[in-house]
Amino acid sequence: MSAATITVLPGDGVGPEVTAQALAVLRAVEETYGHRFTVHKRRVGLDAIAAEGVAISDSTFEICGQSDAILFGAIGSLPPGADRGVGPRPEEALFRLRKEFGFFANLRPVRPFEALYGASSLKPEHLKGADLLFVRELSAGLYYGRLESVPGKPSEIRRAPHGTEAVDTLLYTEEEIERVVRAAFEIALLRERKVTSVDKANVLSSSVLWREVVERVAAEHPTVTYEHMLVDACAMRLIRTPSEFDVVVTENLFGDILTDEASMLTGSIGMLPSASLGTRRTAGGTFGLYEPIHGSAPDIAGRDRANPVGAVLSGALLLRHSLGLTREAAAVEEAVEAVIGEGLRTPDLAEPGSTVVGTREMGRRITDRVRSASA
Ligand code: NAD
Ligand code: IPM
Ligand code: MN
Repeated sequence: MSAATITVLPGDGVGPEVTAQALAVLRAVEETYGHRFTVHKRRVGLDAIAAEGVAISDSTFEICGQSDAILFGAIGSLPPGADRGVGPRPEEALFRLRKEFGFFANLRPVRPFEALYGASSLKPEHLKGADLLFVRELSAGLYYGRLESVPGKPSEIRRAPHGTEAVDTLLYTEEEIERVVRAAFEIALLRERKVTSVDKANVLSSSVLWREVVERVAAEHPTVTYEHMLVDACAMRLIRTPSEFDVVVTENLFGDILTDEASMLTGSIGMLPSASLGTRRTAGGTFGLYEPIHGSAPDIAGRDRANPVGAVLSGALLLRHSLGLTREAAAVEEAVEAVIGEGLRTPDLAEPGSTVVGTREMGRRITDRVRSASA
């Protein structure tokens, strides 16, 4: 029996809808396998800005820090065209959590289920054998650049004598690159032992340094094969021959974009989970933040239409990486695959012959499966 504390940050838009299902699945695991999960639910994003004036309050942040893991939904819903003005932005919550907790490695597994080959925009023959793990650098790069004029500020729009200009800075230290590249090589040892490092070394200095570091770390891992790939070519190859990839490591913004693209291999962005990890240990593993890769999806929010699978699979990653509950994590993943194998689909994955259900029903079926599988 394991005892663990989980802070749940449902957030905005579809965030609360999918998180409720992920939490129900975790509760089923708790009961079925005899664990004890203490859950603290807190506001984050627009929800927190409205109630507390900031995207994440200090007290919420503190509770997160006292937990074994954070389960995050999504933030940032505004009706289309609405102006955010100059106030706090919901995304600031994510930036703070990632930076201050040192979550530098964002794992985004992409493994299309065979039963969903028909729902993907790729032909089935291209999906066969695809099983990728993105390791996205998460706490540096363009998201956290440094302006010489305003230390700590990553970007600005400014009035210059020749007109208005905007600046974003892309800065990586050797240490920031090395820790995430090292994580990728270590994970590759547990998989197919292949790393693709993605950069833009034909243009960016940060990518030239990135390649140097990859060479050095690769030399310490002689059993792992590796390659460098330019990001534009990678974007193409991902949908030409996805099965050629195993572990893909890349900087923050490239990883953000490539994983939304890669989600289409699985049929929907609603399918992809993620784990954001640093170095702090918990009783069972590593302290981490777990969230689906999608956003608050304002276009479908509040209509029981969101696919909860990315959130549920994020819960499985939480069990595995932060709580050390490997068997339970696998049980959740198997439950998801079984329910999808039965033809159950949320509207984003609807195909002829499938049974289309809402977010809640999809979650309920996965939860039932977790309970019955252990019986
Ligand atoms: P989005 O991911 O919210 O939505 C993109 C498209 O995918 C939409 O058509 C949406 O309906 C669909 N979609 C997303 N999740 C789905 C799900 N679970 N099931 C079915 N369909 C789903 O991206 P966006 O519209 O570009 O951004 C909306 C807001 O979300 C923005 O404010 C953005 O900053 C924020 N965002 C937050 C996160 C996060 O919380 N980690 C991630 C991405 C975007
Ligand atoms: C993600 C999101 C965030 C990012 C946004 C909301 C800041 O797109 O988690 O993938 O770009 O990292
Ligand atoms: Mn993204």
